[in-house]
Amino acid sequence: MSLLSSINIENLPKHLAIIMDGNGRWAKQQGMMRAFGHENGTKSVKTTVENCAKIGIENLTLYAFSTENWNRPKLEVNTLMKLLISSLKKELETLVINNIKLNTIGNLEKLPKSAQKELLEVIGKTKNNTRMTLTLALSYGSREEIINAVKNIATKVKNNIISIDSIDESILNKHLYTHNLPDVDLVIRTSGEHRISNFLLWQIAYAEFYFIDVLWPDFSEEHLYEAIISYQKRERRFGKTSEQIK
Ligand code: FPP
Repeated sequence: MSLLSSINIENLPKHLAIIMDGNGRWAKQQGMMRAFGHENGTKSVKTTVENCAKIGIENLTLYAFSTENWNRPKLEVNTLMKLLISSLKKELETLVINNIKLNTIGNLEKLPKSAQKELLEVIGKTKNNTRMTLTLALSYGSREEIINAVKNIATKVKNNIISIDSIDESILNKHLYTHNLPDVDLVIRTSGEHRISNFLLWQIAYAEFYFIDVLWPDFSEEHLYEAIISYQKRERRFGKTSEQIK
């Protein structure tokens, strides 16, 4: 029996964030170049996006390219950018058919102009879609995001637009790339690594974590459902006692 029937659709994570790790190791295991791993990683991206929309996840955020990934060999960076562009062209229809809105977080200005153009086009063509928001973290770093937010808030204080006393969580939230997204409920990281790697540090304050020892190109529909079922078995207390939340 498929695990799908064990999922409680009343208790889905509102915001699922995934660190897609292990493309390089997957390729190496097959005796292939890293690019082959990334190519196969895009297949897992497609199935995961479709399955999240199918079960009713409202927000899915994928860590596609970090600020640190710019330090990879030029050839690999170029491969990832080309894959991004070709996937956007190829999958626009999938997003439209599934009523999925594309969003991005990160410093997009650092991306090649051709990638920026393709992103803007798909974002424009999907902007009225309502079933799920798919956010791609591209040239994204959480510390950079927080520093930018602090600079923007400080400028507003200096210009008397807001007072120091009014600064609270909601003001900081409004200055993050994720201002239009809810807090993250569940983070999945593939490949067996147990770390966060500068991903959504503010937004994961109360998230649940699910680390799975499967390389991203092997991450399947059933793995996704296992993660959600594990999330649904947990008691989220947000600092309160077990009795208080019952
Ligand atoms: C991590 O594997 C993966 C990435 C750095 C990039 C993720 C990109 C994709 C899944 C493909 C393109 C994405 C989109 C949205 C079209 P790794 O290279 O760090 O693997 P390793 O740790 O085994 O070396």
